[in-house]
Amino acid sequence: MRYTRLGKHGPEVSVIGLGLWQFGQKAWGELSSTPREIVRAAVEHGITLFDTAEIYGNGLSEKLLGEALRAEGIPREEVVIATKLAGFNASGKERALKSLRASLKRLGTGYIDLYQIHWPPPKWCKLCEVLRGLEEAVDEGLIKYIGLSNFPVKDVEEARACLRKHDIVSVQFQYSLAYRAPENDLIPYLKREGIGVLAWSPLAKGALTGEVKGRNFARLTDPVYRRASRDTELLTTLKKIATDHGATPAQTALAWLVAKGAVPIPGARKVYHVLSNARAAEVTLSDAEVRTLDEVSVKYLGTYSGFSPLGRNVPCVIQMLILRIIWI
Ligand SMILES: NC(=O)c1ccc[n+]([C@@H]2O[C@H](COP(=O)([O-])OP(=O)(O)OC[C@H]3O[C@@H](n4cnc5c(N)ncnc54)[C@H](OP(=O)(O)O)[C@@H]3O)[C@@H](O)[C@H]2O)c1
Repeated sequence: MRYTRLGKHGPEVSVIGLGLWQFGQKAWGELSSTPREIVRAAVEHGITLFDTAEIYGNGLSEKLLGEALRAEGIPREEVVIATKLAGFNASGKERALKSLRASLKRLGTGYIDLYQIHWPPPKWCKLCEVLRGLEEAVDEGLIKYIGLSNFPVKDVEEARACLRKHDIVSVQFQYSLAYRAPENDLIPYLKREGIGVLAWSPLAKGALTGEVKGRNFARLTDPVYRRASRDTELLTTLKKIATDHGATPAQTALAWLVAKGAVPIPGARKVYHVLSNARAAEVTLSDAEVRTLDEVSVKYLGTYSGFSPLGRNVPCVIQMLILRIIWI
């Protein structure tokens, strides 16, 4: 494994993290290995960054992560726990701090390394009040770093303008060879500002592995997955470059993100995938290979849409109902 600093001022993390949306989540189906086996395999192979959220499995993902770390006797300071405050709970300071305390309890820890706002709250909500509340939580030692997720540039700027003492260290968003829209404006902005990039769905929910994947709710609702799984030009190129490295297409897709300066957080439901993804850190693509992959995926630059335009106009209670009933 290799390690990198998240942004200029964030924590040191493994260049490949582990996404935990899959833990306790209806949209993905059952795990094929236990949470404990998955977490142990990740740590044994040098992964230190674990990404979860209060909405994953209605808190179950956080709970399972905390239990697995304790059961395996993994010292708290050896891992970086990143979790997320749902946009519908980022409506005011008290509500946000209540969510934070609940996450700490489920994780069974005294602090969260990276606390991210999962998506921008509706535009009439008190985002500044929430962020200042998170700054107080940093001062109290409950959070080490503040991060954002699914915020387009203008919302990142709005959030940063609220902060007085602790700038955000990272932004998390969808980014892969099959979804490159953030390269248009968000990534150049974050690079300029020294803010780290966490890439979600780095394998386009499995499409970039080149394997035929079972249909589940997470995939059925993602147009990026559907498009990428039919893109023979991209998949053939990935496979060729992978073969040249004695690697897999999945490892090559993750190595491309690492070459772009992002930290991918692939999700996994089985130990074997965790091990394979951790080994992506050993694949170093040449500049020519990165260019070839850039060229074959240039069609996915598109324009950045993100969650924000819809999310900022949808009342919290509606967001909560949609996510709790349909999605989780
Ligand atoms: N901030 C946000 O709004 C947001 C949104 C989405 C995700 N996320 C985070 O990002 C993480 C990753 O995103 P994601 O889970 O949507 O997509 P992903 O990482 O692109 O895809 C994960 C799926 O790909 C397959 N896979 C993983 N490694 C593989 C390997 N080595 N070989 C073959 N197949 C492999 C597995 O599918 P099977 O298990 O079916 O084989 C796995 O469940 C999530 O767990 C979550 O932590 C954040």
